[in-house]
Amino acid sequence: MDKIVINGGVPLHGEVQVSGAKNSALPLLFSTLLSDGVSEITNVPVLRDINTAVKLLGELGADVTMHDHCCRIDSQRIQSIQASYELVKTMRASVLVLGPLLARFGHARVSLPGGCAIGARPINLHLKGLEALGATIRIDHGYVEATAPRLRGGRISFDLPTVGGTENLLMAAALAKGETVLENAAREPEVVQLAQALMSMGAHIEGAGTAIVHIQGVDGLNPLHCRVIPDRIEAGTFMIAAAITGGDVLVKGALRKDLESLISKLTEAGARISEEGDALRVIGPKRPKSVDIRTNVFPGFPTDMQAQFMALMTLTEGSSRISETVFENRFMHVCELQRMGADILIDGNSAIIRGVRQLTGAPVMATDLRASASLILAGLAAENTTEISRIYHLDRGYERIEKKLATLGARIRRERE
Ligand code: UD1
Repeated sequence: MDKIVINGGVPLHGEVQVSGAKNSALPLLFSTLLSDGVSEITNVPVLRDINTAVKLLGELGADVTMHDHCCRIDSQRIQSIQASYELVKTMRASVLVLGPLLARFGHARVSLPGGCAIGARPINLHLKGLEALGATIRIDHGYVEATAPRLRGGRISFDLPTVGGTENLLMAAALAKGETVLENAAREPEVVQLAQALMSMGAHIEGAGTAIVHIQGVDGLNPLHCRVIPDRIEAGTFMIAAAITGGDVLVKGALRKDLESLISKLTEAGARISEEGDALRVIGPKRPKSVDIRTNVFPGFPTDMQAQFMALMTLTEGSSRISETVFENRFMHVCELQRMGADILIDGNSAIIRGVRQLTGAPVMATDLRASASLILAGLAAENTTEISRIYHLDRGYERIEKKLATLGARIRRERE
Protein backbone atom coordinates (compact mmCIF):
# COMPACT_ATOMS: atom_id res chain seq x y z
CA MET A 1 0.00 0.00 0.00
CA ASP A 2 1.23 3.52 -0.75
CA LYS A 3 1.85 6.31 1.71
CA ILE A 4 2.48 10.03 1.27
CA VAL A 5 5.59 11.53 2.85
CA ILE A 6 5.77 15.29 3.36
CA ASN A 7 8.59 17.48 4.65
CA GLY A 8 6.59 20.53 5.63
CA GLY A 9 7.28 24.20 6.04
CA VAL A 10 7.61 25.32 2.41
CA PRO A 11 5.35 28.20 1.27
CA LEU A 12 3.68 27.10 -1.99
CA HIS A 13 4.12 29.22 -5.11
CA GLY A 14 2.98 28.93 -8.72
CA GLU A 15 0.00 27.75 -10.71
CA VAL A 16 -2.07 24.60 -10.44
CA GLN A 17 -4.83 23.26 -12.68
CA VAL A 18 -7.97 21.86 -11.09
CA SER A 19 -9.33 18.59 -12.57
CA GLY A 20 -12.93 17.79 -13.47
CA ALA A 21 -15.31 17.35 -10.55
CA LYS A 22 -15.64 13.78 -9.30
CA ASN A 23 -19.09 14.48 -7.89
CA SER A 24 -20.26 15.80 -11.23
CA ALA A 25 -18.61 13.16 -13.40
CA LEU A 26 -20.24 10.28 -11.47
CA PRO A 27 -23.91 11.23 -12.03
CA LEU A 28 -23.08 12.26 -15.62
CA LEU A 29 -21.58 8.84 -16.31
CA PHE A 30 -24.66 7.10 -14.89
CA SER A 31 -27.06 9.42 -16.74
CA THR A 32 -25.82 7.92 -20.02
CA LEU A 33 -27.83 4.80 -19.07
CA LEU A 34 -30.94 6.84 -19.91
CA SER A 35 -30.09 6.93 -23.59
CA ASP A 36 -29.80 4.24 -26.22
CA GLY A 37 -26.68 5.49 -27.96
CA VAL A 38 -23.05 6.54 -27.64
CA SER A 39 -22.24 9.35 -25.19
CA GLU A 40 -19.00 11.24 -24.75
CA ILE A 41 -17.94 13.09 -21.61
CA THR A 42 -14.73 15.13 -21.50
CA ASN A 43 -12.63 16.47 -18.61
CA VAL A 44 -13.36 13.29 -16.61
CA PRO A 45 -10.87 13.07 -13.73
CA VAL A 46 -8.69 9.96 -13.51
CA LEU A 47 -9.64 8.63 -10.09
CA ARG A 48 -10.45 5.39 -8.32
CA ASP A 49 -14.15 6.31 -7.97
CA ILE A 50 -14.34 6.95 -11.70
CA ASN A 51 -12.78 3.52 -12.35
CA THR A 52 -15.44 2.01 -10.11
CA ALA A 53 -18.18 3.80 -12.08
CA VAL A 54 -16.69 2.59 -15.37
CA LYS A 55 -16.55 -0.95 -13.99
CA LEU A 56 -20.18 -0.76 -12.90
CA LEU A 57 -21.31 0.54 -16.30
CA GLY A 58 -19.32 -2.31 -17.87
CA GLU A 59 -21.03 -4.90 -15.62
CA LEU A 60 -24.39 -3.54 -16.74
CA GLY A 61 -23.35 -4.19 -20.34
CA ALA A 62 -22.24 -0.73 -21.47
CA ASP A 63 -19.13 -0.53 -23.60
CA VAL A 64 -16.92 2.08 -21.96
CA THR A 65 -13.54 3.43 -23.01
CA MET A 66 -11.53 6.13 -21.30
CA HIS A 67 -8.77 7.96 -23.11
CA ASP A 68 -7.03 11.14 -22.02
CA HIS A 69 -9.85 12.29 -19.68
CA CYS A 70 -12.48 11.57 -22.33
CA CYS A 71 -14.99 8.86 -21.56
CA ARG A 72 -17.03 7.22 -24.32
CA ILE A 73 -20.02 5.18 -23.19
CA ASP A 74 -22.05 3.00 -25.54
CA SER A 75 -25.24 2.12 -23.66
CA GLN A 76 -27.06 0.39 -26.51
CA ARG A 77 -26.61 -3.14 -25.23
CA ILE A 78 -27.42 -3.02 -21.51
CA GLN A 79 -27.95 -6.62 -20.33
CA SER A 80 -28.04 -6.34 -16.56
CA ILE A 81 -29.98 -4.08 -14.20
CA GLN A 82 -28.01 -5.02 -11.09
CA ALA A 83 -25.41 -3.03 -9.12
CA SER A 84 -23.63 -5.56 -6.91
CA TYR A 85 -22.68 -5.16 -3.25
CA GLU A 86 -19.00 -5.54 -4.24
CA LEU A 87 -19.13 -2.27 -6.19
CA VAL A 88 -21.68 -0.32 -4.12
CA LYS A 89 -19.73 -0.94 -0.90
CA THR A 90 -16.59 0.56 -2.45
CA MET A 91 -18.48 3.56 -3.80
CA ARG A 92 -21.83 4.70 -2.43
CA ALA A 93 -22.53 6.89 -5.45
CA SER A 94 -23.19 3.63 -7.34
CA VAL A 95 -26.77 3.93 -6.04
CA LEU A 96 -27.19 6.63 -8.70
CA VAL A 97 -27.82 3.88 -11.27
CA LEU A 98 -31.15 3.18 -9.57
CA GLY A 99 -33.08 6.09 -11.12
CA PRO A 100 -31.81 5.69 -14.70
CA LEU A 101 -32.13 1.86 -14.78
CA LEU A 102 -35.64 1.96 -13.38
CA ALA A 103 -36.72 4.73 -15.74
CA ARG A 104 -35.34 3.08 -18.87
CA PHE A 105 -35.86 -0.62 -18.17
CA GLY A 106 -38.69 -0.63 -15.60
CA HIS A 107 -36.60 -2.64 -13.15
CA ALA A 108 -33.43 -2.18 -11.09
CA ARG A 109 -31.65 -4.21 -8.44
CA VAL A 110 -29.13 -2.19 -6.47
CA SER A 111 -27.30 -3.17 -3.29
CA LEU A 112 -28.05 -1.10 -0.21
CA PRO A 113 -24.81 0.74 0.61
CA GLY A 114 -24.78 0.30 4.41
CA GLY A 115 -23.06 2.76 6.75
CA CYS A 116 -19.77 4.52 6.11
CA ALA A 117 -16.99 6.27 7.99
CA ILE A 118 -18.75 9.64 8.14
CA GLY A 119 -22.22 8.54 9.17
CA ALA A 120 -25.20 6.26 8.55
CA ARG A 121 -25.97 7.80 5.14
CA PRO A 122 -29.27 6.07 4.35
CA ILE A 123 -30.95 6.28 0.91
CA ASN A 124 -34.51 6.35 2.26
CA LEU A 125 -35.23 9.67 0.53
CA HIS A 126 -34.15 8.28 -2.85
CA LEU A 127 -36.53 5.34 -2.34
CA LYS A 128 -39.43 7.45 -1.05
CA GLY A 129 -39.06 9.70 -4.10
CA LEU A 130 -39.10 6.77 -6.53
CA GLU A 131 -42.20 5.38 -4.80
CA ALA A 132 -43.89 8.74 -5.33
CA LEU A 133 -43.22 8.21 -9.05
CA GLY A 134 -45.07 4.88 -8.88
CA ALA A 135 -42.19 2.46 -8.27
CA THR A 136 -42.66 -0.60 -6.11
CA ILE A 137 -39.69 -0.97 -3.79
CA ARG A 138 -38.76 -3.94 -1.70
CA ILE A 139 -35.60 -4.88 0.12
CA ASP A 140 -34.41 -8.40 -0.65
CA HIS A 141 -31.17 -9.95 0.68
CA GLY A 142 -29.56 -6.52 1.10
CA TYR A 143 -30.67 -5.33 -2.31
CA VAL A 144 -33.21 -2.70 -3.31
CA GLU A 145 -35.58 -4.24 -5.87
CA ALA A 146 -37.38 -1.48 -7.71
CA THR A 147 -40.01 -2.05 -10.39
CA ALA A 148 -42.30 0.20 -12.38
CA PRO A 149 -43.41 -0.62 -15.93
CA ARG A 150 -43.44 3.16 -16.60
CA LEU A 151 -42.75 5.76 -13.95
CA ARG A 152 -45.29 8.56 -13.74
CA GLY A 153 -44.75 12.13 -12.63
CA GLY A 154 -45.40 13.05 -9.01
CA ARG A 155 -44.75 15.65 -6.33
CA ILE A 156 -41.79 14.95 -4.05
CA SER A 157 -40.94 17.06 -1.05
CA PHE A 158 -37.53 16.01 0.30
CA ASP A 159 -37.23 16.04 4.11
CA LEU A 160 -33.76 17.44 3.55
CA PRO A 161 -32.02 18.61 0.39
CA THR A 162 -30.13 15.45 -0.51
CA VAL A 163 -27.63 15.75 -3.37
CA GLY A 164 -27.74 12.11 -4.49
CA GLY A 165 -31.51 11.86 -3.92
CA THR A 166 -32.14 14.92 -6.09
CA GLU A 167 -29.85 13.48 -8.79
CA ASN A 168 -31.52 10.05 -8.77
CA LEU A 169 -34.96 11.65 -9.00
CA LEU A 170 -33.94 14.08 -11.75
CA MET A 171 -32.78 11.14 -13.87
CA ALA A 172 -35.84 9.01 -13.11
CA ALA A 173 -38.32 11.84 -13.70
CA ALA A 174 -36.71 12.76 -17.03
CA LEU A 175 -38.23 9.59 -18.58
CA ALA A 176 -41.42 9.42 -16.45
CA LYS A 177 -44.85 10.06 -17.90
CA GLY A 178 -46.05 13.56 -17.01
CA GLU A 179 -44.75 16.25 -14.69
CA THR A 180 -42.63 15.77 -11.57
CA VAL A 181 -42.05 18.52 -9.03
CA LEU A 182 -39.09 18.23 -6.64
CA GLU A 183 -39.43 20.44 -3.55
CA ASN A 184 -36.54 21.18 -1.19
CA ALA A 185 -34.19 19.96 -3.92
CA ALA A 186 -30.40 20.18 -3.53
CA ARG A 187 -28.85 23.19 -5.28
CA GLU A 188 -25.20 22.11 -5.53
CA PRO A 189 -23.36 23.04 -8.77
CA GLU A 190 -23.06 19.29 -9.56
CA VAL A 191 -26.87 18.95 -9.45
CA VAL A 192 -27.17 21.91 -11.80
CA GLN A 193 -24.66 20.38 -14.21
CA LEU A 194 -26.60 17.10 -14.24
CA ALA A 195 -29.85 18.96 -14.99
CA GLN A 196 -28.18 20.88 -17.81
CA ALA A 197 -26.73 17.65 -19.20
CA LEU A 198 -30.16 16.00 -19.13
CA MET A 199 -31.64 19.03 -20.89
CA SER A 200 -28.99 18.75 -23.59
CA MET A 201 -30.15 15.12 -24.03
CA GLY A 202 -33.72 16.35 -24.59
CA ALA A 203 -35.16 16.45 -21.05
CA HIS A 204 -37.50 19.27 -20.02
CA ILE A 205 -36.33 20.67 -16.68
CA GLU A 206 -36.95 24.03 -15.07
CA GLY A 207 -35.62 25.48 -11.85
CA ALA A 208 -32.38 23.48 -11.40
CA GLY A 209 -30.21 25.34 -8.91
CA THR A 210 -33.30 26.43 -6.92
CA ALA A 211 -35.21 24.51 -4.26
CA ILE A 212 -38.12 23.72 -6.61
CA VAL A 213 -37.47 21.84 -9.83
CA HIS A 214 -40.09 20.96 -12.46
CA ILE A 215 -39.43 18.04 -14.80
CA GLN A 216 -41.68 17.27 -17.73
CA GLY A 217 -41.03 13.62 -18.66
CA VAL A 218 -40.21 12.62 -22.23
CA ASP A 219 -40.34 9.26 -24.02
CA GLY A 220 -36.64 9.03 -24.87
CA LEU A 221 -33.33 10.84 -24.46
CA ASN A 222 -30.41 11.37 -26.83
CA PRO A 223 -26.82 10.46 -25.96
CA LEU A 224 -24.89 12.91 -23.84
CA HIS A 225 -22.01 15.12 -25.00
CA CYS A 226 -20.63 17.35 -22.28
CA ARG A 227 -17.59 18.56 -20.36
CA VAL A 228 -17.32 18.03 -16.59
CA ILE A 229 -17.15 21.25 -14.53
CA PRO A 230 -14.01 21.92 -12.44
CA ASP A 231 -13.86 20.29 -9.02
CA ARG A 232 -14.70 22.99 -6.46
CA ILE A 233 -13.55 20.81 -3.56
CA GLU A 234 -10.16 20.13 -5.15
CA ALA A 235 -9.91 23.86 -5.95
CA GLY A 236 -10.78 24.71 -2.34
CA THR A 237 -8.15 22.26 -1.08
CA PHE A 238 -5.43 24.03 -3.12
CA MET A 239 -6.70 27.40 -1.88
CA ILE A 240 -6.23 26.24 1.70
CA ALA A 241 -2.82 24.80 0.78
CA ALA A 242 -1.78 28.32 -0.27
CA ALA A 243 -3.28 29.82 2.87
CA ILE A 244 -1.82 27.34 5.36
CA THR A 245 1.73 27.63 3.99
CA GLY A 246 1.66 31.44 3.63
CA GLY A 247 2.16 30.96 -0.12
CA ASP A 248 0.91 32.57 -3.32
CA VAL A 249 -0.93 30.21 -5.67
CA LEU A 250 -3.02 30.70 -8.79
CA VAL A 251 -5.69 28.00 -8.74
CA LYS A 252 -6.79 27.57 -12.36
CA GLY A 253 -10.35 26.41 -12.78
CA ALA A 254 -11.43 27.68 -9.35
CA LEU A 255 -14.80 29.31 -10.05
CA ARG A 256 -15.82 32.14 -7.71
CA LYS A 257 -19.54 31.38 -8.07
CA ASP A 258 -19.04 27.84 -6.75
CA LEU A 259 -16.70 28.86 -3.93
CA GLU A 260 -18.27 31.99 -2.39
CA SER A 261 -18.65 30.63 1.15
CA LEU A 262 -15.06 29.33 1.27
CA ILE A 263 -13.69 32.57 -0.22
CA SER A 264 -15.51 34.57 2.42
CA LYS A 265 -14.19 32.41 5.30
CA LEU A 266 -10.64 32.30 3.93
CA THR A 267 -10.68 36.09 3.56
CA GLU A 268 -11.86 36.41 7.17
CA ALA A 269 -8.93 34.16 8.11
CA GLY A 270 -6.56 36.68 6.53
CA ALA A 271 -5.96 35.26 3.04
CA ARG A 272 -6.01 37.67 0.09
CA ILE A 273 -8.06 36.28 -2.80
CA SER A 274 -8.46 37.79 -6.24
CA GLU A 275 -10.13 36.60 -9.42
CA GLU A 276 -7.94 36.32 -12.52
CA GLY A 277 -10.11 35.11 -15.41
CA ASP A 278 -11.07 31.49 -14.72
CA ALA A 279 -8.66 31.32 -11.79
CA LEU A 280 -8.40 32.49 -8.21
CA ARG A 281 -5.14 33.74 -6.74
CA VAL A 282 -4.71 33.04 -3.04
CA ILE A 283 -2.03 34.74 -0.97
CA GLY A 284 -1.75 33.27 2.49
CA PRO A 285 -1.52 35.28 5.71
CA LYS A 286 1.55 35.21 8.01
CA ARG A 287 -0.63 33.53 10.59
CA PRO A 288 -4.33 32.74 10.01
CA LYS A 289 -7.05 34.37 12.12
CA SER A 290 -9.67 32.31 13.92
CA VAL A 291 -12.95 31.91 12.08
CA ASP A 292 -16.07 29.96 13.06
CA ILE A 293 -17.77 27.83 10.43
CA ARG A 294 -20.94 25.82 10.21
CA THR A 295 -21.28 23.38 7.33
CA ASN A 296 -24.46 23.49 5.32
CA VAL A 297 -25.96 22.60 1.97
CA PHE A 298 -24.98 24.77 -1.00
CA PRO A 299 -24.50 27.74 -1.02
CA GLY A 300 -23.47 27.23 2.63
CA PHE A 301 -20.00 26.09 3.69
CA PRO A 302 -19.46 22.61 2.14
CA THR A 303 -19.10 19.67 4.48
CA ASP A 304 -16.51 18.36 1.98
CA MET A 305 -14.24 21.33 2.94
CA GLN A 306 -14.71 21.04 6.71
CA ALA A 307 -11.72 18.82 7.48
CA GLN A 308 -9.38 20.90 5.30
CA PHE A 309 -10.52 24.17 6.90
CA MET A 310 -9.96 22.66 10.33
CA ALA A 311 -6.31 22.01 9.42
CA LEU A 312 -5.95 25.75 8.77
CA MET A 313 -7.69 26.67 12.03
CA THR A 314 -5.23 24.59 14.08
CA LEU A 315 -2.61 27.30 13.43
CA THR A 316 -4.53 30.48 14.35
CA GLU A 317 -3.82 32.84 17.22
CA GLY A 318 -7.20 32.47 18.91
CA SER A 319 -9.85 29.78 19.02
CA SER A 320 -12.54 28.80 16.56
CA ARG A 321 -15.61 26.58 16.46
CA ILE A 322 -16.43 24.32 13.53
CA SER A 323 -19.93 22.83 13.51
CA GLU A 324 -20.81 19.93 11.23
CA THR A 325 -24.51 19.84 10.40
CA VAL A 326 -24.61 17.62 7.29
CA PHE A 327 -23.05 14.35 8.50
CA GLU A 328 -23.15 13.01 12.05
CA ASN A 329 -19.67 11.54 12.33
CA ARG A 330 -17.32 13.68 10.34
CA PHE A 331 -14.55 14.45 12.84
CA MET A 332 -12.39 11.36 12.28
CA HIS A 333 -9.48 13.61 11.26
CA VAL A 334 -9.43 15.26 14.71
CA CYS A 335 -7.47 12.48 16.46
CA GLU A 336 -4.91 12.47 13.67
CA LEU A 337 -4.52 16.28 13.76
CA GLN A 338 -4.07 15.98 17.52
CA ARG A 339 -1.17 13.60 16.89
CA MET A 340 0.44 16.48 14.99
CA GLY A 341 0.09 18.82 17.96
CA ALA A 342 -3.32 20.38 17.24
CA ASP A 343 -5.43 21.45 20.23
CA ILE A 344 -8.99 20.37 19.44
CA LEU A 345 -11.93 19.52 21.68
CA ILE A 346 -15.05 17.84 20.38
CA ASP A 347 -18.36 19.03 21.78
CA GLY A 348 -21.28 17.19 20.14
CA ASN A 349 -21.38 18.18 16.49
CA SER A 350 -18.84 20.96 17.06
CA ALA A 351 -15.07 21.05 17.33
CA ILE A 352 -13.40 23.81 19.31
CA ILE A 353 -9.94 24.49 17.99
CA ARG A 354 -7.37 26.48 19.93
CA GLY A 355 -4.64 27.57 17.58
CA VAL A 356 -1.06 26.46 18.18
CA ARG A 357 2.04 28.18 16.83
CA GLN A 358 3.36 25.11 15.01
CA LEU A 359 2.23 21.62 14.05
CA THR A 360 4.79 18.85 14.19
CA GLY A 361 5.18 16.05 11.67
CA ALA A 362 3.97 12.60 12.70
CA PRO A 363 2.87 9.31 11.19
CA VAL A 364 -0.90 9.59 10.67
CA MET A 365 -3.66 7.58 9.08
CA ALA A 366 -6.23 8.69 6.52
CA THR A 367 -9.78 7.70 7.47
CA ASP A 368 -11.82 9.05 4.56
CA LEU A 369 -11.38 11.11 1.45
CA ARG A 370 -11.54 14.66 2.81
CA ALA A 371 -9.84 13.70 6.08
CA SER A 372 -6.85 12.58 3.96
CA ALA A 373 -6.73 16.00 2.31
CA SER A 374 -6.82 17.66 5.73
CA LEU A 375 -3.79 15.63 6.86
CA ILE A 376 -1.88 16.56 3.71
CA LEU A 377 -2.57 20.24 4.38
CA ALA A 378 -1.47 19.89 7.99
CA GLY A 379 1.67 18.07 6.80
CA LEU A 380 2.50 20.89 4.36
CA ALA A 381 2.54 23.35 7.25
CA ALA A 382 4.12 21.12 9.90
CA GLU A 383 7.73 20.94 11.03
CA ASN A 384 9.68 17.88 9.93
CA THR A 385 8.21 14.79 8.34
CA THR A 386 4.59 13.69 8.15
CA GLU A 387 3.76 10.24 6.81
CA ILE A 388 0.18 9.60 5.80
CA SER A 389 -0.86 5.97 5.36
CA ARG A 390 -4.08 4.43 3.96
CA ILE A 391 -4.07 6.92 1.14
CA TYR A 392 -6.33 4.80 -1.06
CA HIS A 393 -9.03 7.13 0.27
CA LEU A 394 -7.18 10.04 -1.32
CA ASP A 395 -6.93 8.30 -4.67
CA ARG A 396 -10.72 8.03 -4.74
CA GLY A 397 -11.10 11.76 -5.18
CA TYR A 398 -7.88 13.68 -5.89
CA GLU A 399 -6.08 13.29 -9.20
CA ARG A 400 -2.29 13.15 -8.70
CA ILE A 401 -2.48 15.53 -5.75
CA GLU A 402 1.12 14.91 -4.67
CA LYS A 403 2.40 15.73 -8.19
CA LYS A 404 0.33 18.91 -8.36
CA LEU A 405 1.56 20.04 -4.92
CA ALA A 406 5.15 19.20 -5.84
CA THR A 407 4.96 21.56 -8.84
CA LEU A 408 4.06 24.29 -6.33
CA GLY A 409 7.28 23.58 -4.44
CA ALA A 410 5.98 21.20 -1.78
CA ARG A 411 8.40 18.50 -0.63
CA ILE A 412 5.97 15.64 -1.01
CA ARG A 413 6.29 12.16 -2.44
CA ARG A 414 4.45 8.87 -2.68
CA GLU A 415 6.19 5.79 -1.32
CA ARG A 416 5.40 2.10 -1.10
CA GLU A 417 4.79 1.06 2.49
C1 UD1 B 1 -22.93 14.05 -1.87
C2 UD1 B 1 -21.47 14.07 -2.23
C3 UD1 B 1 -20.60 14.14 -0.98
C4 UD1 B 1 -21.03 15.30 -0.10
C5 UD1 B 1 -22.53 15.28 0.16
C6 UD1 B 1 -23.03 16.52 0.89
C7 UD1 B 1 -21.41 12.84 -4.31
C8 UD1 B 1 -21.00 11.60 -5.03
N1 UD1 B 1 -21.15 12.88 -2.99
O1 UD1 B 1 -23.16 12.85 -1.12
O2 UD1 B 1 -19.24 14.28 -1.37
O3 UD1 B 1 -20.37 15.23 1.15
O4 UD1 B 1 -23.24 15.20 -1.09
O5 UD1 B 1 -22.68 17.67 0.19
O6 UD1 B 1 -21.92 13.77 -4.91
N2 UD1 B 1 -29.67 11.54 3.76
C9 UD1 B 1 -30.71 10.83 4.30
N3 UD1 B 1 -31.48 10.06 3.47
C10 UD1 B 1 -31.24 9.98 2.12
C11 UD1 B 1 -30.18 10.72 1.58
C12 UD1 B 1 -29.41 11.49 2.42
O7 UD1 B 1 -30.96 10.87 5.50
O8 UD1 B 1 -31.96 9.26 1.43
C13 UD1 B 1 -28.80 12.36 4.65
C14 UD1 B 1 -27.37 11.84 4.68
O9 UD1 B 1 -27.21 10.81 5.61
C15 UD1 B 1 -26.60 13.08 5.05
C16 UD1 B 1 -27.39 14.19 4.36
O10 UD1 B 1 -28.68 13.63 4.09
O11 UD1 B 1 -26.61 13.28 6.43
C17 UD1 B 1 -26.80 14.70 3.07
O12 UD1 B 1 -26.59 13.64 2.20
P1 UD1 B 1 -26.60 13.77 0.62
O13 UD1 B 1 -26.75 15.20 0.23
O14 UD1 B 1 -27.57 12.79 0.07
O15 UD1 B 1 -25.12 13.32 0.25
P2 UD1 B 1 -24.65 12.34 -0.88
O16 UD1 B 1 -25.45 12.53 -2.12
O17 UD1 B 1 -24.53 10.95 -0.33
